Amino acid sequence: MPKTHTRYVCQECGRVSATYMGKCPQCGSFNSMIEEIVHDEPVTKGPASVRGLTGRSQPKPISEIGGDAEDRIPLPMGEFARVLGGGIVPGSIVLVGGDPGIGKSTLMLQMAMEMSNKKRVLYVSGEESERQIKMRASRLGNSKKEFPANLLLVTETNLEIILNHVNEVKPDLLIVDSIQTVYLSELDSSAGSVSQVRECSSQLRELAKSSGISIFIIGHVTKEGAIAGPRVLEHIVDTVLYLEGDRFQAYRLLRSVKNRFGATSEVGVFEMQEHGLAEVANPSEAFLAERMINAPGSSIAVTMEGTRPILVEIQGLTSPTQFGNARRTPNGVDFNRLLLIAAVLTRRVGLKLGEQDVFVNVVGGIQIDEPAADLAIAAAIASSWKDVAVRAEAVLIGEIGLAGELRMPGQMQTRLREASKLGFKTAIVPKAIRKGEGWPKDIEIIEARSIQQALDAALVTQMELPKGRKVA
Ligand code: TYD
Ligand code: MG
Repeated sequence: MPKTHTRYVCQECGRVSATYMGKCPQCGSFNSMIEEIVHDEPVTKGPASVRGLTGRSQPKPISEIGGDAEDRIPLPMGEFARVLGGGIVPGSIVLVGGDPGIGKSTLMLQMAMEMSNKKRVLYVSGEESERQIKMRASRLGNSKKEFPANLLLVTETNLEIILNHVNEVKPDLLIVDSIQTVYLSELDSSAGSVSQVRECSSQLRELAKSSGISIFIIGHVTKEGAIAGPRVLEHIVDTVLYLEGDRFQAYRLLRSVKNRFGATSEVGVFEMQEHGLAEVANPSEAFLAERMINAPGSSIAVTMEGTRPILVEIQGLTSPTQFGNARRTPNGVDFNRLLLIAAVLTRRVGLKLGEQDVFVNVVGGIQIDEPAADLAIAAAIASSWKDVAVRAEAVLIGEIGLAGELRMPGQMQTRLREASKLGFKTAIVPKAIRKGEGWPKDIEIIEARSIQQALDAALVTQMELPKGRKVA
């Protein structure tokens, strides 16, 4: 075992110091010194012993290196597997981040229980006792079944001891809940500090790469803990997943923001229930379930979450400002995007929104970042302002430009197919030079050059209130 000691390194300029200093004497930045472990590698001399040639790594022809897609460990939870890119890659390290109480431990334990039918799983918790985890496990709709013998639980926070356990247990899968609670005794800093989080996760990565164990690390995201939180970790791990959602709503979105083994921004949808997280195989249907048809201020957008189209209801409400400045309150869409859309509606369509408070809400608690939802947002606001409904059987897709023009977003074919599958009869889309080959035939396409034209087509007039038309 090589001798180790620690040093403090300024993260801004690289200045090294033996003790902690609040202000870096070299570059003058404050609180930039981070404790690091120094690994004394044996001094090697001569060209033959240049590091790498005599040591552990050896260049190999690419054809001789294993690692095909079939090597993935299949996962019974389809939504989870989709986000990982098809299954668990042996020797990979995955970070699962999310706000406290969102359901990270629940998700991991559920996965651990399902995986332990075939694989050996070690669940290390620094947050809950074994009894508490067992209680949670009995809650997970599994109470009548036998508990798998291949799922081992331990409460431990010292990483050296955890590594010893791993050596003894030899699991295929290791879950560390959470990285903020584990520590290395060599470092003086407390658990959860940047140095601890970084060193501990680097050691876990070494473990994953050298042993082939797949490791899941849970990380908390706190507002002020942006540095000590999983952000530092994102560079170290192979895959970063975020579990998001409104804590007061049942839907949870598992989103991949980085994935070395699959597509990013892929999304899995779950619903938090009495007995743990249930997969939502058809999210569009779920998000539209409570929709009020022909109510003013509601429109349907088709958003792409990774490779999957999801239909969501957008609600808009305008209400005269009582005092002070008019407010813009978005829930589920970007604030600046809403400002832009409101401004375009005011200038290019002539809606007098200057003295109106504008509220926009995405039903289901999901967050839409895509500009493709612009048109649906605009229609929801205009519909509320004019107090006429948007045609119930129509979806609206399009990005809005500052001149009030509409632009075509990508993956139209996929979006239209999903809308048609859910029974929508009309799609209001931007006018494009490239005519859509492969667009579904059973959905009427209305092309609009500008936001004004799109609204003319989208808003119901008194004469043509839909009679007997029903949407899925
Ligand atoms: P938890 O997994 O402890 O969150 P995290 O690890 O991200 O902090 O989940 C906590 C919430 O989930 C808690 O508020 C209760 C809820 N929950 C259910 O609704 N149903 C269940 O079956 C379980 C286990 C938890
Ligand atoms: Mg937890």
